[in-house]
Amino acid sequence: MTTADPRPARTETATAGPAADDDWWRSAVIYQIYPRSFADSDGDGTGDLPGITARLDHLADLGVDALWLSPFYPSPQRDGGYDVADYRAVDPRYGTLADFDALLARAHTLGIRVVVDLVPNHCSTQHQAFRAALAAAPGSRERALFHFRDGRGQDGSRPPNDWASMFEGPAWTRVTEADGRAGQWYLHLFDPGQPDWNWDNPAVREDFEDTLEFWLDRGVDGFRVDVCDALVKAPGLPDWPHPTHGVIEPVDGAMPPMWDQEGIHEIFRAWRRLLDTYDGQRILCAEAWLPPERAARIIRPDEMHQAFNFRFLETAWRPVALRDAIDESLAANDAVGAPTTWVLSNHDVMRHASRFGYDGPVELEHGVGADDPQPDRALGLRRARAATALMLALPGSAYLYQGEEIGLPEVTDLPDQARQDPVWERSGHRIRGRDGCRVPLPWTDRPPAYGFSRSPDTWLPQPAYYRAYAVSVQRDAPDSTLHFYRRLLALRRRYRLGTGEIRWRASSDQVLHFTNGLIQVMTNFGAEPVPLPPGIQCLAASRSLDGNLPSDATVWFVEQGVLPH
Ligand code: NOJ
Ligand code: MG
Repeated sequence: MTTADPRPARTETATAGPAADDDWWRSAVIYQIYPRSFADSDGDGTGDLPGITARLDHLADLGVDALWLSPFYPSPQRDGGYDVADYRAVDPRYGTLADFDALLARAHTLGIRVVVDLVPNHCSTQHQAFRAALAAAPGSRERALFHFRDGRGQDGSRPPNDWASMFEGPAWTRVTEADGRAGQWYLHLFDPGQPDWNWDNPAVREDFEDTLEFWLDRGVDGFRVDVCDALVKAPGLPDWPHPTHGVIEPVDGAMPPMWDQEGIHEIFRAWRRLLDTYDGQRILCAEAWLPPERAARIIRPDEMHQAFNFRFLETAWRPVALRDAIDESLAANDAVGAPTTWVLSNHDVMRHASRFGYDGPVELEHGVGADDPQPDRALGLRRARAATALMLALPGSAYLYQGEEIGLPEVTDLPDQARQDPVWERSGHRIRGRDGCRVPLPWTDRPPAYGFSRSPDTWLPQPAYYRAYAVSVQRDAPDSTLHFYRRLLALRRRYRLGTGEIRWRASSDQVLHFTNGLIQVMTNFGAEPVPLPPGIQCLAASRSLDGNLPSDATVWFVEQGVLPH
């Protein structure tokens, strides 16, 4: 067995700005930055935009095509910035609009496109429009921008319907009217600090088009659209007595009245028309926890460009289930001519390096505390590297979440008093939530804050074991996860796997084996090593090989002599 060395990625585009190739998004690798936790430049313990700009070389070295920034807009941070108080500004704790422009310019110089987060389902109770609605009377123009309703019961003391908030408890909060009396209720599918906009109101549509133009004019390359499938609610807001968590399946053929209503599509078509008036290819990526065939309807040719593949993300470390998820996703998206996307981690779910360190399925957003069973970190990392290698060989676009390139585990022993996810309080301390995947990154092995900040008081505390994962440590270690990611991304680019096509060679309850062009990909899910075909040339392996593919490992190889020299 021999090892071929891929050339360093993107030498051609490194200083020339984003490559002008058409349809870049069809095969792009997009790296998610959670600004609060990436890098802190001013020592306040919270990440910020200048911190990101200063670290962009890391992403260029990694070889990604684009980055997606989670919200950095003014926000009381009730839900980590997904409670937006002003859609066209930068929260002072993250910097200024000039800092944003500098970030964008530097990214473009490095050949990296920038996608920002659009949060159209809800804003913050601090948004000026919601404050005006609270001050105005029931039935007013101001209240019509949101979903205000009278309560049920004689005194209106029961919520207008039975919808539950995604963060537990009712999806309605009662307001106090100007005369001091308990009054109407407003709808919030998430935290009470996140009132839902009323998308039946044309004023809401116009306002969001202005927001899109604001960022497009600044030069962003696209938008990741938060809970885009919730914008339109069924008329009359009917009761829905079924759970609505995870990937939403229809019940008796009907989708829940708050998810995936037909009316969402005309909104996306209008946005697409707007984006298409801009130069370059500016994209829309749907965040919608829907099964592949429902999500595919959002990415028909005149709507969004791509949608997150939550079916894939939800799938446990099981070969048959993974193959089914892959086939199902490709079939659904091929049918509408859209690329399939792949994702294993983001800021809402337990990091895959920890998820796969449990035997059996894990509740993605539930969170783990110090007194819960802990994952096997070594096993989790082995499987995570194998899973990533499998994912990055698939055609389409792939999303990476900050820190996964250094194999970062979830913080599963975060002190409960440090928790910030609103679900922790709302669930009466039953659900710990998503803080464990949002802990600030370790850049160096030195205190304070392992290079994240010059303050030791980071907004979530970093565990001592994060030190061993530091970027600076892995940079000098050729066997590190960081080098493995770089290698995979370089090979993916070199052999154009993102625009390829897969063919299954074998699949069993132990092994998946497929080809993408000349490249063969084999993953061993079993406990025993499996023999590799003789005379192959290994391009990348998630564990070291000895003629066999060890347990929980993926290898990329070619038959000897097939690669041109
Ligand atoms: C999805 C976001 O990714 C998540 O972090 C947020 O809590 C909800 N949408 C509500 O905005
Ligand atoms: Mg800061």
